[in-house]
Amino acid sequence: MLEISGLVSGYYGLKIVRGISLKVEKGEVLFVMGRNGVGKTTLLKTVVGHIRPMSGRVVIDGHDVTGWSPHAIARMGVGYVPQDRGVFARLTVEENLRIAEGLNGEILKEAFKLFPELEPLRDRKGGKLSGGEQQILAVARAIASRPKLLVMDEPATGLAPPIIRRMVEAVKQLTSQGASAIIAEQNPALVFELADKLALMEAGEIKAIIGRDRLAESQQLLRSALGLSYQDR
Ligand SMILES: Nc1ncnc2c1ncn2[C@@H]1O[C@H](COP(=O)(O)OP(=O)(O)O)[C@@H](O)[C@H]1O
Ligand SMILES: [Mg+2]
Repeated sequence: MLEISGLVSGYYGLKIVRGISLKVEKGEVLFVMGRNGVGKTTLLKTVVGHIRPMSGRVVIDGHDVTGWSPHAIARMGVGYVPQDRGVFARLTVEENLRIAEGLNGEILKEAFKLFPELEPLRDRKGGKLSGGEQQILAVARAIASRPKLLVMDEPATGLAPPIIRRMVEAVKQLTSQGASAIIAEQNPALVFELADKLALMEAGEIKAIIGRDRLAESQQLLRSALGLSYQDR
């Protein structure tokens, strides 16, 4: 579903992602983990077309989308939750959702079914939402568009545990229907629930790929690679 090969990208000629190759099969969930600043967001932005790579290729569902616009990539059926949420401040909740409508005519119904707390906020401007509400909106927009590839950048940030649960269930439902996901996230609850594999990133490169069967025994590796203690979270 997603094949990244030899990807190099960054800002103003500065290489942040330094030659990454990754594959996400149909129905699979890949987590990208690593300390702050290793280039997770830069990698995901490059996948969805917000940054044009310096070299390498991005192939989605058999199409070479390298250099395509974010709009063209979204239209292929790619749902994206940016780290900064990407909620349009001057559009209402409904309008923010309808932006992804091209992919699924039922997006409002679907979004309100998954996240009923959005419905009373329907006519509120994005800029008037709390940070947590904006996060729900961003997640709802991406998931309710029923993408074949879901790209999420720290989606659990600012979400209460019951909402995270519903997000996990919604992602499971999508992948059970053949969608794939690439998610940058450190939240262990999410990782252990959803991950088919983990890519550990360090300084713009993939240091290790860990399959689901090795997740439990890899805790020590993860902890040191992330510079955190799982018990703390
Ligand atoms: N818009 C930008 N312009 C220049 N440098 C950036 C920009 N965004 C991120 N960077 C730099 O790229 C590096 C990786 O950032 P990022 O991809 O956000 O990492 P992560 O998501 O893993 O925390 C950091 O050193 C950051 O300072
Ligand atoms: Mg980031």
